[in-house]
Amino acid sequence: EQDPRISNISSAIRVIPDFPKPGIIFQDITTLLLDTKAFRDTIDLFVERYRGKDISVVAGIEARGFIFGPPIALAIGAKFVPMRKPNKLPGEVLSEEYSLEYGKDTMEMHVDAVKAGERALIIDDLVATGGTLSAAIRLLERVGVHVVECACVIELPELKVCVSNLRPTCYLLVINS
Ligand code: PRP
Repeated sequence: EQDPRISNISSAIRVIPDFPKPGIIFQDITTLLLDTKAFRDTIDLFVERYRGKDISVVAGIEARGFIFGPPIALAIGAKFVPMRKPNKLPGEVLSEEYSLEYGKDTMEMHVDAVKAGERALIIDDLVATGGTLSAAIRLLERVGVHVVECACVIELPELKVCVSNLRPTCYLLVINS
């Protein structure tokens, strides 16, 4: 029932315990990028889902949304808009604060990158609590952009409850633990 490409993508992701600190199990997508078939299949699965949906914006979240977002944007004929850490973008920005496990962070987007009424897809490598995706959704919705869906390569199953509450919903390829 599951697409046969997905198990291959899942095995190409390296899982590293206790990185960057004890107790955290890191999902390393750099090994997926080394596997040309698995990387291509990952992009293809997203492109097959979003092509023909009238999406003009692919918003990629720093840092690993910058790896998966641009090839998807090119393939569906959309522009790529980076959602960045604070004080990185040189033009006029809109900012949104969000909570992390410990403390807060801020995400920024160029205000002139999108127009009200456009349809957007948000891309990142992984969703944990969903806080990062929520900030990206708020940034786009504040300027009148319609967020069609979020999409990530990896879901962490222990946080499924938070992710299933996300609106718009998040499409996930692989469940890793
Ligand atoms: C990771 C991941 C997502 C975010 C998900 O990024 O790439 O962007 O965390 O977490 P959340 O769902 O709980 O908000 P990280 O914080 O490692 O930043 P980086 O990509 O710049 O390394």
